[in-house]
Amino acid sequence: MAKDPGRVLIFDTTLRDGEQSPGASLNLEEKLAIAQQLARLGVDIIEAGFPYSSQGDFAAVQRIADQVGGEEGPIICGLARASKADIKACAEAIAPAPRKRIHTFIATSDIHLEHKLRKSRKEVLELVPDMVHFAKTFSDDVEFSCEDAARSDPEFLYEVISQAIASGAGTINIPDTVGYTTPSEFGELIAGINHHVSNIDEAVLSVHGHNDLGLAVANFLEAVKSGARQLECTINGIGERAGNAALEELVMALHVRRSYYNPFFGRDPESIQPLTAVRTEEITKTSRLVSNLTGMVVQPNKAIVGANAFAHESGIHQDGVLKNRLTYEIVDAKTVGLSDNRISLGKLSGRSAVRARLEELGYDLTREDLNEAFSRFKDLADRKREITDRDLEAIVSEQVMQPEARYQLDLVQVSCGNALKPTATVTLTDQEGNQQTSVALGTGPVDAVYKALDSLAKEPNELIEFSVKSVTEGIDALGEVTIRLRSQGQIFSGHSADTDVVVAAAQAYVNALNRLVAYSEKKTSIHPQHDLVQSNI
Ligand code: KIV
Ligand code: ZN
Repeated sequence: MAKDPGRVLIFDTTLRDGEQSPGASLNLEEKLAIAQQLARLGVDIIEAGFPYSSQGDFAAVQRIADQVGGEEGPIICGLARASKADIKACAEAIAPAPRKRIHTFIATSDIHLEHKLRKSRKEVLELVPDMVHFAKTFSDDVEFSCEDAARSDPEFLYEVISQAIASGAGTINIPDTVGYTTPSEFGELIAGINHHVSNIDEAVLSVHGHNDLGLAVANFLEAVKSGARQLECTINGIGERAGNAALEELVMALHVRRSYYNPFFGRDPESIQPLTAVRTEEITKTSRLVSNLTGMVVQPNKAIVGANAFAHESGIHQDGVLKNRLTYEIVDAKTVGLSDNRISLGKLSGRSAVRARLEELGYDLTREDLNEAFSRFKDLADRKREITDRDLEAIVSEQVMQPEARYQLDLVQVSCGNALKPTATVTLTDQEGNQQTSVALGTGPVDAVYKALDSLAKEPNELIEFSVKSVTEGIDALGEVTIRLRSQGQIFSGHSADTDVVVAAAQAYVNALNRLVAYSEKKTSIHPQHDLVQSNI
């Protein structure tokens, strides 16, 4: 049996595989904010990025390694293809972290060997020990993944794994790269590895999987029963195509059904010892932060973090829940931090009260960020009687800096109504300080604003998604707008919150335009799985 840490290790890859989803790209400050929140959530390992891919990714991994990975904090991991240049870049980026890991991988399925790598099995078998040994010269903690393991010949997989462990890999990861496997097949694959790889007891067995058939979480849970002890997952299940296995679903399944899973860990079924180290009360906050910053909206019926997940809409259910919650409720909303939306502050609250509540909520802001947050708070308190924790969270996530922002929105003004043609006036300032104003007509106020902004920014794009939702209840609630644009074959998202949804829509659009411009200006980054290693020196 593989090395057993006694519980499940949660390896979060929101910032690497999650960020690979179209339109989810994050700037350095946003990645840092998410990494800090992941540390509060209590994940064991943060895969912070793929350092070789671009200077931006390198800098983000390095900053996270420096500021998030403390002695007691999560291990900071970087991804590297089986190439010396990738491994070197990764080692350099994670160097500041006291607890660090290099995660290197190569494909093992015949379909990948033949059509992507154009390598024989023998060549792959020779490369694996070289790369793992090389990675070990920089970090004691090395993880090795067999990409497309679920479609690989198990006999070949056993050989590769055994070589990787003999060369020093302490974690062996088995990805279902294309989301093809089924729970029983995946469970058997993990059991087979445990049975056939003679040195498997020297490594932790990990699983990684995509959700193309909606089976990723079920596959992982079956793998846990067969001895997998590390789960690679993302917040809200974001990731390539249909996404990765969702962290919140895995953690809550292991939490709620602990008595079912306990025996697979050699525990008494009734043991109340947690199966993961995740602080479940941080789940909702983490989900919102990731959704706001990536622009990946969470579907309302999504398990654990969807807006309807705890809403007992139908009369029959409400009646049952009122008599005894257990009739229709298997998770108390408090367990995932949902019902803690305290009305905390109002118009008269001072700077120290705002700082104290933000600290209680886990936001440790710098002086400048606190000043900015306080001024936004005052502005909101003038328009909204009671400020809740959700409002404070919206203020802070709104404020995560956009350092390379090309445009700043100075003014947005609309006139509309049933007897008027919607007209918008907007003013933008660019990085050089040039201020320009434009007026446009539209089919509605938002359309007019977007037309006016387009005439100034001149960045051709197509609006492919626009969503508005209210942060809290009540007529004076903040409205959150999330949009997605398509340009140059890429997707760019923008998010903003304001009591005026037209203002939020304008700011969300400017945020997305800023990402689009930043992308056009920087060199295209490398994709870890689609782009091939050029040389192995
Ligand atoms: O899906 C996959 O196979 C991956 C590997 C790089 C681990 O993301
Ligand atoms: Zn993946």
